[in-house]
Amino acid sequence: MSLEIRDLTVRLCSKKTSGKAVDCCDGINVVDSFFLTVKEKEVVSIVGESGSGKSFLGLSILRLNPPVISKIIRGEIRVRCSSQKDKVDILKLKQRELTGARGRLISMIFQDPNTSLNPVMKIGEQITEAILAHRKVSKAEAKDIAIFYLDSMNINGKFQFASYPYELSGGMRQRVMINSGRTYDGIRRNDFTASLETYQGY
Ligand SMILES: Nc1ncnc2c1ncn2[C@@H]1O[C@H](COP(=O)(O)OP(=O)(O)OP(=O)(O)O)[C@@H](O)[C@H]1O
Ligand SMILES: [Mg+2]
Repeated sequence: MSLEIRDLTVRLCSKKTSGKAVDCCDGINVVDSFFLTVKEKEVVSIVGESGSGKSFLGLSILRLNPPVISKIIRGEIRVRCSSQKDKVDILKLKQRELTGARGRLISMIFQDPNTSLNPVMKIGEQITEAILAHRKVSKAEAKDIAIFYLDSMNINGKFQFASYPYELSGGMRQRVMINSGRTYDGIRRNDFTASLETYQGY
């Protein structure tokens, strides 16, 4: 998978509206004319001080920046996975195409597993759901894959499959997040090792 970002500019609006989307004439550009090329198998880390806009950039790449307070002003976000010839411009996708591309073409492991995992859903089911959403496998096969992923991150898959996020340690929760991201081709990782004391087996 390769990623090419050109002139990406995302504005944080000065006025919050109760509506679905904002006009966003006033505000500041949290991401301002950002360029980045990530080639196949290349790993790129983005470093910056707290509040400098790293997470906002990550959310914008998947067009997950909150619409009531921000707007993508201009740019191109081109993604190509190894199996596809043509590049897809994320900013030009219709909402339905975008939903299909998220998770299948490009995905994000969020910074905070405590707010990103569903607290009332078993962790195994959360991983299984992600696998089923993007792969043509049966429910039983998806469950086996989820157990395999958990085992590979030193979490006992069979035993912990039915655990809820609150029953896991912070590091285990973070690893579950990583496993959800593993179901996809392209992954954007946002401070994804923040809760891990040691990082094993991925
Ligand atoms: N939902 C939001 N509403 C209002 N402002 C926001 C929102 N999300 C982010 N911001 C602002 O956008 C700026 C960039 O935030 P962002 O989360 O991208 O920082 P960051 O570089 O990821 O920081 P950290 O290293 O602490 O995670 C900050 O000034 C933050 O206050
Ligand atoms: Mg951040």
